[in-house]
Amino acid sequence: MSRPETAEQTRWEVAEAITSRRAVRAFHPNPVPQDTIAQILEIAAQAPSGSNIQSWHVDVVTGQARSQLTSAITARFDAGDFGEEAYQYYPDPWREPYLARRRATGWGLYAALGIARQDKDRMHAQHRRNFLFFDAPVGLVFSLDRDLPVGSWLDCGMFLQNIMIAARGFGLDTCPQQAFAAYHSTIRDVLDIPENRMVICGMALGVADKSDPANQFATERAPTDQFARFHK
Ligand SMILES: Cc1cc2nc3c(=O)[nH]c(=O)nc-3n(C[C@H](O)[C@H](O)[C@H](O)COP(=O)(O)O)c2cc1C
Repeated sequence: MSRPETAEQTRWEVAEAITSRRAVRAFHPNPVPQDTIAQILEIAAQAPSGSNIQSWHVDVVTGQARSQLTSAITARFDAGDFGEEAYQYYPDPWREPYLARRRATGWGLYAALGIARQDKDRMHAQHRRNFLFFDAPVGLVFSLDRDLPVGSWLDCGMFLQNIMIAARGFGLDTCPQQAFAAYHSTIRDVLDIPENRMVICGMALGVADKSDPANQFATERAPTDQFARFHK
């Protein structure tokens, strides 16, 4: 990688890599060369981790392996089996301000897709698209040793974020997908993930279909003064 010429250019490129990342929910089927995936993972593995323990694991699925996994999961989904919770990701019960943000995200996506609020069938169909990796040619499945405490989840999150940012450098997009955790037992069987590891989430990786309505929706962020305090 050649060095950018000025500090300003570096700042712009770093900010662009971060801010151009979106949760992309429609991909072109164009394959991603294995060498590119390997490079993204190598860059991403520069993520920090407490004492550099690098606890993350990732299974990469493409081609037949990807089809086998998506078929096994959608077979359960289509049979009305919506899986089992591997771990708790969301607050229970939901409360403000998180509930309002969650609703804005859900309704924003459905509005972009032209799905009416009472149209449960189309919402269900949209949720199902998770389990096809939104047609992305590459699926990633992340797992962690079960006995590792919450610190390793922080480290794993940094690895995931690095993958999403590194992918931008290759003109690729991603969608992190906690939805897969509900089918952890099926994922474990298909990918032969050892019992001592927990499946945490999946991620779609590929070339974004920018014309798809699912990718027309952009989320917003709370202003800095709502989450940061400056102590002087
Ligand atoms: C760990 C994690 C899991 C997620 N799981 C899903 C998922 O299962 N399906 C999905 O469509 N989006 C999923 N998302 C995407 C979020 O909805 C998205 O990041 C959020 O709305 C912000 O939008 P943006 O990523 O486009 O900035 C997940 C995001 C994260 C960080």
